[in-house]
Amino acid sequence: MNSNVTVIDHPLIKHKISMLRDENTGTNEFRKLVEEIAMLMGYEAMRDLPLEEVEIKTPIETCMAPMIAGRKLAIVPILRAGLGMVSGLLQLTPTAKVGHIGMYRDEETHQPQEYFCKLPNPIEERLIIVTDPMLATGGSAVDAVNQIKKHGGKNIKFMAIIAAPEGLQRLAETHPDIQIYVGTVDRCLNKDAYICPGLGDAGDRIFGTK
Ligand code: PRP
Ligand code: URA
Repeated sequence: MNSNVTVIDHPLIKHKISMLRDENTGTNEFRKLVEEIAMLMGYEAMRDLPLEEVEIKTPIETCMAPMIAGRKLAIVPILRAGLGMVSGLLQLTPTAKVGHIGMYRDEETHQPQEYFCKLPNPIEERLIIVTDPMLATGGSAVDAVNQIKKHGGKNIKFMAIIAAPEGLQRLAETHPDIQIYVGTVDRCLNKDAYICPGLGDAGDRIFGTK
């Protein structure tokens, strides 16, 4: 495993991912699970957020106490499925700015096609957390990070719930300077570049489309 990859090992995350995989899990529950997993993963991904000492007056006395330094976080979901993870992260950091990168995979070639990009400006100083539940071939993730870097983003983390080994390796090697957090690494991709066993099409399951 590349040194910039963290597989978050937690029983709550494992349990909720198993529920996501179940084909009988309906849209409403699926959405809630994606949000909860994102929040649990965010707890780990934000472990190194910088703190600063600020003066606080308790009912007893005044003291210096640690608070998150500045408000320099940006969450950037890859549309559509990455949107499902945003609310979970915003529960942890409600003041974060939110950018969007729109991409879909061509059904034949499996290559990502970008159709939208709107990022907080300026982005240089921000910690950017890119979200997408599925890291399959890695094409969408690699292109999204390319796009963010083109706009000046430097401090980038990528968060996926399920990764395929080949996509994870591709992202980690193409962008060795970013930190990657995944909930689990599955077996392989099938001939349609879907993750096995995976959970199917994350966007369709979150939004109830087909
Ligand atoms: C899915 C998923 C990722 C991408 C992963 O999106 O949410 O963005 O595929 O595949 P890759 O690693 O091979 O690029 P999709 O293209 O289905 O779009 P959607 O979220 O709008 O359904
Ligand atoms: N996108 C998905 O939503 N699921 C996969 O298994 C692969 C790409």
